[in-house]
Amino acid sequence: MRRAVCPGSFDPVTLGHLDIIGRAASLFDEVVVAVGTNPSKSRLFSADERLAMLERACAGIERVRVASFSGLLTDFCTAHDVQAIVKGLRAGTDFDYELPMAHMNATLAPGVETVYLPTGAGWSFVSSSLVKEVAGFGGDVSRFLPDFVHEALLTRLTSGDAASGA
Ligand code: PNS
Repeated sequence: MRRAVCPGSFDPVTLGHLDIIGRAASLFDEVVVAVGTNPSKSRLFSADERLAMLERACAGIERVRVASFSGLLTDFCTAHDVQAIVKGLRAGTDFDYELPMAHMNATLAPGVETVYLPTGAGWSFVSSSLVKEVAGFGGDVSRFLPDFVHEALLTRLTSGDAASGA
């Protein structure tokens, strides 16, 4: 079985993420969407909330399951018999950010390949960070998110709470 992982913070999951996950699912026998923590980013939603949103968002995508992880991505790959890490690339800046991680992950786990998919053109400017920023200033980001994620985002921004844990 060819199994891939789509890792990310998913804070929150966007339609751009779901585009990549769906296309990865057409290339592999199984895709594990792994909700991790990026220590360089502050979080709006807790790990449990991000996991629950992804489970709901991915429910209709065949051959996809969702998991969370807290350690090294390569340890997750070894533990789950994953052969490929799938990442979406929006622009050259993403490539500059991702390439050292691909080399590090290949060094830590030889045999685990990193596969880049270009984001769909319609999502090339969409990121969780930008969506949160625009929504925080009252901009309409509904077209970039599943409806229930958009509602959760507005509720969270209105309440003023941010995730305290991972
Ligand atoms: O959506 P993000 O924030 O770009 O996701 C980054 C993430 C969580 C995939 C990345 O930070 C990661 O893999 N974290 C796990 C810890 C790890 O393995 N770090 C070394 C990467 S070379």
